[in-house]
Amino acid sequence: MSMIHLNKIDIENTPKVRRLNIINGISGIKSANLIGTSSKKYGSNVAIFSSVMHVGSDPALLGFILRPDNDVPRNTYSNILETGYFTINHVHESFIEKAHYTSTKFEYGESEFEKCGLHEVHLFEFPAPFVEESRVKIGLKFVEEVDIKSNGTKLIIGKIQELQMPQDCLDDKGYMRLDRLYDVGIGGLNSYYSLRRIATFPYARVSELPEFQALEKEQGRA
Ligand SMILES: Cc1cc2nc3c(=O)[nH]c(=O)nc-3n(C[C@H](O)[C@H](O)[C@H](O)COP(=O)(O)O)c2cc1C
Repeated sequence: MSMIHLNKIDIENTPKVRRLNIINGISGIKSANLIGTSSKKYGSNVAIFSSVMHVGSDPALLGFILRPDNDVPRNTYSNILETGYFTINHVHESFIEKAHYTSTKFEYGESEFEKCGLHEVHLFEFPAPFVEESRVKIGLKFVEEVDIKSNGTKLIIGKIQELQMPQDCLDDKGYMRLDRLYDVGIGGLNSYYSLRRIATFPYARVSELPEFQALEKEQGRA
């Protein structure tokens, strides 16, 4: 198999767009979420984010990486600062294209909901809009922002206040079936993948480690 090897210098010398594509893709599949916010003056806003991450379960915290743009104001960020709230809504196969185009740099006051054919819904008297099409809706209170010095991005952290999802996407232990939701994964900045659950394993304990070493010996590799 022919391979590509890039060292630090090669990466720095790669043409800008190609480098951006490679580095955006190299972290593998990321989750696809729409972040909903609102502002008194400009109304509702929604944008796609591939960097939503688990920060901790007690307290229940999620975060996402915000890339500040020096040329364009970032509505998501200014709305979160203004209201203190935002929503995270899973993206499903049925509306990936609409979700993707929420990344368009619209003018202030133009709602991505309207422009992209998505619908906002207001639930639980929550101060930020949810995406009606999304079957997993999470309402969060902004709790902290962390400046990432290496590149000027920010980790925005929110504490879950509200959570809504279909009953049948959770099993009796509380494990989520993302495939039953037709959730999607994002590769790079513009490719969408469908999800299939291929395995689940128990909590990994030393005492219950499968016989990997014996298997390696059997296969003559150890
Ligand atoms: C697939 C995809 C994933 C994205 N992920 C992020 C992300 O994690 N962080 C970010 O700051 N911008 C991300 N963007 C860019 C935002 O969606 C885009 O800048 C959007 O205009 C932000 O909206 P706002 O100005 O209303 O906040 C992503 C764009 C796409 C197409």
